[in-house]
Amino acid sequence: MDRVFVTRMIPESGIKMMKGALDVRIWENKMPPSKKEIIERSKGCVGLVSLLSDPIDAELMGCLDDLKVISQYAVGYDNIDVQAATERGIIVTNTPGVLTETTADLTWALIMAASRRIGEAERFVRRGDWKVAWGPQMLLGNDIFGATLGIIGLGRIGEAVARRSEGFEMRVLYTTRSSNERTERVEKELNATRVDLDTLLQESDIISIHVPLTNETRGFIGKREFAMMKKGSIFINTSRGAVVDERALVESLKSGHLGAAGLDVFQNEPIHMDNPLLKLENVVLVPHIGSASFATRSKMSTMVAENVITALKGERPPNIVNPEVLNNE
Ligand code: GLV
Ligand code: GLV
Repeated sequence: MDRVFVTRMIPESGIKMMKGALDVRIWENKMPPSKKEIIERSKGCVGLVSLLSDPIDAELMGCLDDLKVISQYAVGYDNIDVQAATERGIIVTNTPGVLTETTADLTWALIMAASRRIGEAERFVRRGDWKVAWGPQMLLGNDIFGATLGIIGLGRIGEAVARRSEGFEMRVLYTTRSSNERTERVEKELNATRVDLDTLLQESDIISIHVPLTNETRGFIGKREFAMMKKGSIFINTSRGAVVDERALVESLKSGHLGAAGLDVFQNEPIHMDNPLLKLENVVLVPHIGSASFATRSKMSTMVAENVITALKGERPPNIVNPEVLNNE
């Protein structure tokens, strides 16, 4: 039977599917395996089910001669050297689509929490600082309704975030690399307007970024971009930490130029306890939980299973990232 290694315990739904068709080995520890441990445990495996925190690079692939498919349990795959995989004839798959709405929900949780200071207010209550029943000037925040929402990167998630603004009667601005059906749809249905990045930064009250991490987007939002944002604006990131210059973000939050931020992703995950973000009141921090709903994580699990099973049958997996690998054969 074809052997696959799964780098962490994922929801049962996909494990069950894989066990019906494959010899499945699972990393049972709570702490992730190191690169060396992934290599050791994957020896002789034709399939690898990976997480976004696993470094799947050329060195690792070079040690695994039998590997035919890497099935990533995430939509983003910046942890995988796809080019190296393609050169070795290894198929790479991901889990797009299923987590779009779940991640858009979390993005909105952060928009609301950052705008209305929910994290800070929660800490205030728990600390016992709530001493006066009602404060005319206590914990005032920003209105969301009627504000201008700027979406950087109009992919599936960007669109789903934009769509959720409808009940808030917002003006929606967006940037994207190319016009397509999605841009036509949001312009028509949401009355959204495509603008250049600088206009979006200057005119939005709330900015949310939805781009994949690539060589072009690394450090995309830095000092210059934060300086261009309106004073008091809100910045949200549920994509990848490295698309933002975190030091510039901290400076902008500290100076009060940026009103608040809501972050699900960081330059280093888990966040180090000496990270200056932990000391700031005007930032809401959550630990990379964009897709973390029961239903979605379970669907992602069946998706990685289907991808790995079809690829090992010699068929085209539904969510292939590097289709050119099939033509090379
Ligand atoms: C989560 O960050 C994902 O890429 O699925
Ligand atoms: C993710 O599904 C995206 O393309 O935005």
